[in-house]
Amino acid sequence: MARGAARVIAQYREPGAGARAYLHLRWAVCPFDRLLPFIPREGRLLDVGCGSGLWLTYLALERPGLVLHGIDADARKLALAATSQAGKPVLRQGSADDLPEGTFDCITILDVLYVLPDEVKAKVLQGCYRALSDGGAIVVKELDTSPTWKFAPAAFEELLAVRAVKMTHGGRLHFQSLDDLSRAMSAAGFVDVEATRIDRGYLHPHVVVRALKPRPT
Ligand SMILES: C[S@@+](CC[C@H](N)C(=O)[O-])C[C@H]1O[C@@H](n2cnc3c(N)ncnc32)[C@H](O)[C@@H]1O
Repeated sequence: MARGAARVIAQYREPGAGARAYLHLRWAVCPFDRLLPFIPREGRLLDVGCGSGLWLTYLALERPGLVLHGIDADARKLALAATSQAGKPVLRQGSADDLPEGTFDCITILDVLYVLPDEVKAKVLQGCYRALSDGGAIVVKELDTSPTWKFAPAAFEELLAVRAVKMTHGGRLHFQSLDDLSRAMSAAGFVDVEATRIDRGYLHPHVVVRALKPRPT
Protein backbone atom coordinates (compact mmCIF):
# COMPACT_ATOMS: atom_id res chain seq x y z
CA MET A 1 0.00 0.00 0.00
CA ALA A 2 2.75 2.43 0.95
CA ARG A 3 4.68 1.55 -2.23
CA GLY A 4 6.86 4.43 -3.39
CA ALA A 5 6.53 6.50 -0.21
CA ALA A 6 10.28 6.82 0.34
CA ARG A 7 10.95 7.96 -3.24
CA VAL A 8 8.24 10.64 -3.08
CA ILE A 9 8.96 11.91 0.44
CA ALA A 10 12.71 12.04 -0.31
CA GLN A 11 11.89 14.96 -2.64
CA TYR A 12 11.14 17.20 0.39
CA ARG A 13 14.06 19.26 1.65
CA GLU A 14 14.58 18.54 5.40
CA PRO A 15 10.88 18.23 6.29
CA GLY A 16 11.40 17.69 10.04
CA ALA A 17 10.10 14.72 12.02
CA GLY A 18 6.47 15.91 12.34
CA ALA A 19 6.06 16.78 8.67
CA ARG A 20 7.81 13.56 7.61
CA ALA A 21 5.46 11.49 9.80
CA TYR A 22 2.45 13.33 8.36
CA LEU A 23 3.62 12.71 4.77
CA HIS A 24 4.15 9.00 5.47
CA LEU A 25 0.73 8.73 7.11
CA ARG A 26 -0.97 10.52 4.22
CA TRP A 27 0.78 8.28 1.70
CA ALA A 28 -0.18 5.15 3.64
CA VAL A 29 -3.90 5.97 3.81
CA CYS A 30 -4.44 7.42 0.32
CA PRO A 31 -4.14 5.24 -2.83
CA PHE A 32 -2.42 7.91 -4.94
CA ASP A 33 -1.11 5.26 -7.36
CA ARG A 34 -4.70 4.21 -8.21
CA LEU A 35 -5.47 7.78 -9.30
CA LEU A 36 -2.65 7.88 -11.83
CA PRO A 37 -4.55 6.09 -14.65
CA PHE A 38 -7.06 8.98 -14.65
CA ILE A 39 -4.35 11.60 -15.25
CA PRO A 40 -3.17 12.76 -18.71
CA ARG A 41 0.55 12.69 -19.58
CA GLU A 42 0.76 16.27 -20.83
CA GLY A 43 -0.86 19.66 -20.36
CA ARG A 44 -1.55 22.01 -17.47
CA LEU A 45 -2.84 20.40 -14.30
CA LEU A 46 -4.24 22.23 -11.26
CA ASP A 47 -4.54 20.45 -7.91
CA VAL A 48 -7.24 22.20 -5.86
CA GLY A 49 -6.62 21.89 -2.11
CA CYS A 50 -3.10 20.59 -2.78
CA GLY A 51 -2.16 20.71 0.91
CA SER A 52 1.44 19.70 1.51
CA GLY A 53 1.93 18.80 -2.15
CA LEU A 54 2.34 15.04 -1.86
CA TRP A 55 0.18 14.37 -4.92
CA LEU A 56 1.91 17.12 -6.93
CA THR A 57 5.29 15.65 -5.95
CA TYR A 58 4.18 12.19 -7.03
CA LEU A 59 2.83 13.60 -10.31
CA ALA A 60 6.09 15.44 -10.97
CA LEU A 61 7.87 12.06 -10.81
CA GLU A 62 5.28 10.01 -12.69
CA ARG A 63 3.96 12.57 -15.19
CA PRO A 64 6.99 14.76 -16.06
CA GLY A 65 5.16 16.10 -19.14
CA LEU A 66 2.63 17.98 -17.01
CA VAL A 67 2.92 21.63 -15.98
CA LEU A 68 1.77 21.55 -12.36
CA HIS A 69 -0.16 24.13 -10.33
CA GLY A 70 -1.53 23.91 -6.80
CA ILE A 71 -3.88 26.04 -4.73
CA ASP A 72 -4.69 25.70 -1.04
CA ALA A 73 -6.15 27.86 1.72
CA ASP A 74 -3.55 26.79 4.30
CA ALA A 75 -0.26 28.73 4.23
CA ARG A 76 1.51 26.22 6.52
CA LYS A 77 0.76 23.31 4.20
CA LEU A 78 1.82 25.32 1.16
CA ALA A 79 5.10 26.16 2.90
CA LEU A 80 5.78 22.43 3.23
CA ALA A 81 4.70 21.86 -0.39
CA ALA A 82 7.19 24.51 -1.51
CA THR A 83 10.08 22.50 -0.01
CA SER A 84 9.48 19.64 -2.47
CA GLN A 85 12.17 19.60 -5.13
CA ALA A 86 10.12 17.68 -7.68
CA GLY A 87 8.56 19.52 -10.58
CA LYS A 88 8.54 22.93 -8.91
CA PRO A 89 4.77 23.44 -9.24
CA VAL A 90 3.31 26.94 -9.25
CA LEU A 91 1.73 27.22 -5.78
CA ARG A 92 -0.85 29.80 -4.74
CA GLN A 93 -2.63 30.46 -1.45
CA GLY A 94 -6.31 30.95 -2.14
CA SER A 95 -9.78 29.56 -1.98
CA ALA A 96 -11.03 26.64 -4.02
CA ASP A 97 -13.99 28.75 -5.17
CA ASP A 98 -11.76 31.40 -6.77
CA LEU A 99 -9.92 29.80 -9.70
CA PRO A 100 -8.44 31.34 -12.85
CA GLU A 101 -10.64 30.81 -15.94
CA GLY A 102 -10.15 28.45 -18.90
CA THR A 103 -6.52 27.58 -18.43
CA PHE A 104 -6.16 23.95 -17.32
CA ASP A 105 -6.36 20.62 -19.14
CA CYS A 106 -6.91 18.66 -15.94
CA ILE A 107 -8.06 19.58 -12.42
CA THR A 108 -7.71 17.24 -9.46
CA ILE A 109 -9.44 17.64 -6.08
CA LEU A 110 -8.36 15.05 -3.53
CA ASP A 111 -10.18 14.81 -0.21
CA VAL A 112 -11.21 18.46 -0.14
CA LEU A 113 -14.94 18.59 -0.98
CA TYR A 114 -15.94 16.89 2.28
CA VAL A 115 -14.85 19.96 4.28
CA LEU A 116 -17.12 22.21 2.17
CA PRO A 117 -20.89 22.74 2.59
CA ASP A 118 -23.01 21.67 -0.41
CA GLU A 119 -23.49 25.19 -1.76
CA VAL A 120 -19.71 25.86 -1.64
CA LYS A 121 -19.03 22.44 -3.24
CA ALA A 122 -21.33 23.44 -6.11
CA LYS A 123 -19.51 26.77 -6.47
CA VAL A 124 -16.12 25.01 -6.49
CA LEU A 125 -17.24 22.51 -9.15
CA GLN A 126 -18.65 25.35 -11.29
CA GLY A 127 -15.35 27.22 -10.87
CA CYS A 128 -13.45 24.09 -11.95
CA TYR A 129 -15.69 23.84 -15.01
CA ARG A 130 -14.80 27.42 -15.99
CA ALA A 131 -11.12 26.88 -15.24
CA LEU A 132 -10.88 23.85 -17.56
CA SER A 133 -10.22 24.07 -21.26
CA ASP A 134 -12.82 22.45 -23.55
CA GLY A 135 -12.48 18.67 -23.34
CA GLY A 136 -10.50 18.98 -20.10
CA ALA A 137 -10.87 16.42 -17.30
CA ILE A 138 -11.75 16.77 -13.62
CA VAL A 139 -10.70 14.03 -11.21
CA VAL A 140 -12.29 14.12 -7.76
CA LYS A 141 -11.25 11.74 -4.99
CA GLU A 142 -13.40 11.49 -1.90
CA LEU A 143 -14.55 8.99 0.72
CA ASP A 144 -17.88 7.29 -0.01
CA THR A 145 -20.46 7.06 2.78
CA SER A 146 -20.69 3.30 2.33
CA PRO A 147 -19.95 0.67 3.44
CA THR A 148 -20.65 1.93 6.97
CA TRP A 149 -17.94 -0.23 8.53
CA LYS A 150 -15.36 1.67 6.47
CA PHE A 151 -17.04 5.08 6.48
CA ALA A 152 -17.77 5.44 10.23
CA PRO A 153 -14.15 5.10 11.47
CA ALA A 154 -12.82 7.14 8.54
CA ALA A 155 -15.30 9.97 9.25
CA PHE A 156 -14.32 9.95 12.93
CA GLU A 157 -10.65 10.16 11.97
CA GLU A 158 -11.33 13.11 9.64
CA LEU A 159 -13.32 14.83 12.39
CA LEU A 160 -10.26 14.55 14.66
CA ALA A 161 -8.00 15.89 11.88
CA VAL A 162 -10.23 18.94 11.36
CA ARG A 163 -11.45 19.70 14.89
CA ALA A 164 -8.97 18.30 17.43
CA VAL A 165 -5.57 18.08 15.70
CA LYS A 166 -6.48 20.95 13.30
CA MET A 167 -4.38 19.17 10.69
CA THR A 168 -6.97 20.01 8.02
CA HIS A 169 -8.41 23.48 7.34
CA GLY A 170 -12.22 23.38 7.78
CA GLY A 171 -15.09 23.32 10.26
CA ARG A 172 -17.97 20.86 9.97
CA LEU A 173 -17.67 17.88 7.67
CA HIS A 174 -19.97 17.38 4.68
CA PHE A 175 -19.43 13.87 3.34
CA GLN A 176 -21.69 12.79 0.49
CA SER A 177 -22.43 9.48 -1.20
CA LEU A 178 -20.74 8.54 -4.45
CA ASP A 179 -24.09 8.97 -6.26
CA ASP A 180 -24.59 12.47 -4.84
CA LEU A 181 -21.04 13.44 -5.80
CA SER A 182 -21.58 12.17 -9.37
CA ARG A 183 -24.87 14.10 -9.53
CA ALA A 184 -23.19 17.30 -8.27
CA MET A 185 -20.59 16.97 -11.03
CA SER A 186 -23.26 16.53 -13.69
CA ALA A 187 -25.13 19.53 -12.26
CA ALA A 188 -21.97 21.63 -12.70
CA GLY A 189 -22.07 20.80 -16.45
CA PHE A 190 -19.59 17.91 -16.63
CA VAL A 191 -20.29 14.98 -18.95
CA ASP A 192 -19.10 11.36 -19.16
CA VAL A 193 -19.12 11.20 -15.36
CA GLU A 194 -17.48 7.92 -14.32
CA ALA A 195 -17.25 6.74 -10.72
CA THR A 196 -14.78 4.08 -9.58
CA ARG A 197 -14.10 2.51 -6.19
CA ILE A 198 -10.38 2.43 -5.43
CA ASP A 199 -10.57 1.13 -1.84
CA ARG A 200 -9.74 -2.57 -2.25
CA GLY A 201 -7.30 -3.45 0.54
CA TYR A 202 -7.73 -0.04 2.21
CA LEU A 203 -9.63 0.69 5.42
CA HIS A 204 -11.07 3.94 4.01
CA PRO A 205 -13.90 3.89 1.40
CA HIS A 206 -11.89 5.68 -1.31
CA VAL A 207 -13.69 6.56 -4.55
CA VAL A 208 -12.75 8.57 -7.62
CA VAL A 209 -15.04 10.35 -10.05
CA ARG A 210 -13.66 11.48 -13.40
CA ALA A 211 -15.63 13.69 -15.77
CA LEU A 212 -15.08 15.92 -18.79
CA LYS A 213 -15.91 19.46 -19.77
CA PRO A 214 -17.67 19.00 -23.12
CA ARG A 215 -16.21 20.46 -26.29
CA PRO A 216 -18.51 22.92 -28.06
CA THR A 217 -20.40 21.21 -30.90
C1 LIG B 1 -7.46 16.43 3.74
S1 LIG B 1 -6.52 17.72 3.07
C2 LIG B 1 -6.10 16.99 1.50
C3 LIG B 1 -4.85 17.61 0.96
C4 LIG B 1 -4.38 17.02 -0.37
N1 LIG B 1 -5.38 17.22 -1.40
C5 LIG B 1 -4.04 15.56 -0.24
O1 LIG B 1 -4.73 14.74 -0.84
O2 LIG B 1 -3.08 15.23 0.45
C6 LIG B 1 -7.72 18.96 2.59
C7 LIG B 1 -7.07 20.21 2.04
O3 LIG B 1 -8.08 21.10 1.59
C8 LIG B 1 -7.67 22.42 1.91
N2 LIG B 1 -8.87 23.27 1.91
C9 LIG B 1 -9.94 23.21 2.71
N3 LIG B 1 -10.85 24.15 2.39
C10 LIG B 1 -10.32 24.84 1.34
C11 LIG B 1 -10.77 25.94 0.54
N4 LIG B 1 -11.97 26.51 0.76
N5 LIG B 1 -9.98 26.39 -0.44
C12 LIG B 1 -8.76 25.81 -0.69
N6 LIG B 1 -8.29 24.78 0.04
C13 LIG B 1 -9.05 24.28 1.03
C14 LIG B 1 -7.01 22.27 3.27
O4 LIG B 1 -6.17 23.35 3.59
C15 LIG B 1 -6.26 20.96 3.09
O5 LIG B 1 -4.96 21.17 2.61
